[in-house]
Amino acid sequence: MGLWRMIEAVGLTKRYGAKTAVYNLSFHVRPGTVTGFLGPNGSGKSTTMRMILGLDRPTSGHVTIGGHPFRQLPNAPRQVGALLDAKAVHGGRSARSHLLSLAQLAGIPAQRVDEVLGVVGLQDVAKRRSKGFSLGMGQRLGIAAALLGDPQVLLFDEPVNGLDPEGILWVRNLMKKLAAEGRTVFVSSHLMSEMALTADHLIVIGRGQLLADMSVTDFISANSADFARVRTPQTEPQQREKLTAALIEAGGRVMSEPDGALRVTGVPLPRISDLAHDADVRLWELSPHQASLEEAYMRMTQGAVDYRSTEDQLAHLQQPQPQHGGYGTPPQQPVVPEVPQQGWYAPPPPGQNPYAAQAQSEPAQKPEDPR
Ligand SMILES: Nc1ncnc2c1ncn2[C@@H]1O[C@H](COP(=O)(O)OP(=O)(O)OP(=O)(O)O)[C@@H](O)[C@H]1O
Ligand SMILES: [Mg+2]
Repeated sequence: MGLWRMIEAVGLTKRYGAKTAVYNLSFHVRPGTVTGFLGPNGSGKSTTMRMILGLDRPTSGHVTIGGHPFRQLPNAPRQVGALLDAKAVHGGRSARSHLLSLAQLAGIPAQRVDEVLGVVGLQDVAKRRSKGFSLGMGQRLGIAAALLGDPQVLLFDEPVNGLDPEGILWVRNLMKKLAAEGRTVFVSSHLMSEMALTADHLIVIGRGQLLADMSVTDFISANSADFARVRTPQTEPQQREKLTAALIEAGGRVMSEPDGALRVTGVPLPRISDLAHDADVRLWELSPHQASLEEAYMRMTQGAVDYRSTEDQLAHLQQPQPQHGGYGTPPQQPVVPEVPQQGWYAPPPPGQNPYAAQAQSEPAQKPEDPR
């Protein structure tokens, strides 16, 4: 079943000095499907791909394609194609002569160059120097180079970077087509949303370590949780508190959304409506939702993000705010009940009892700050 096209990593580890870029990574990439390689910035995707292609030597472990390390593959350019760094092109050359030189090195007929230029839609600019290419055109040229040897194994490192929506759709369809032809397609991205649309199988890493290796369908069913958004009248914070208490008593899990709505899991929608009715609480919103895959991915990798932004405090740029209502009068508080600001919501991990850990930990059920 095409084992000669399989990529197999076993205990792959790469250290750069004190920095461990990839640690003990083991996985298979199978032919006939698009395998997404997902991880935050700096998680080790490019390093892993370079090791697969023999461009970086593993500190320990090994990786093979069809049972051979890349460097020992007979006629590697005809078997494996890769887009690693789209900028790795001699800018003074035209797209066509860049591809021609690659073709000559690999013993590929010149006619194939024109074919791949057509496939990636660069035929009209083939004679232009690649120095003047846009980011998207550069990506297309890199993809053309990967396709040159009509390889059975393809690696693409962030191929949609810099592409416009039409280009993204084109890459997505190309990946699927290549996989449908029975090829092994391994494509990296830091975007879950993109991978959910492109890949059949996912390998997720964080800080160089394996976090998940599963089909996209399994990832979706394991990680997307249903929840309800409930909003009570903003002018009556006590209604919100009353409903929160009733929901928790009924075994629900309640969290605050940034806009003041409640996010409820563990209680079906009709029951929420009944509980509100019994507690004499009016509802302004009761709607069913599903946590997005992006949220599930962020939850999975949150402990494994190397580069995290902090709030811009603008400390030195802040002007004292003018006080309204005259000297000595405290600024007017908004009538909206205070809601703890949460950047994003993390659904409970699969299998965790949603009814547990309620009483003390949930911000929504704490009494409002009486300011
Ligand atoms: N040649 C190198 N020397 C030292 N450190 C390196 C080298 N190459 C990569 N690293 C480090 O290894 C880690 C993994 O980098 P890598 O480029 O593989 O991540 P990535 O998942 O491809 O990230 P991105 O999404 O930003 O492309 C990073 O911390 C990076 O700084
Ligand atoms: Mg990278």
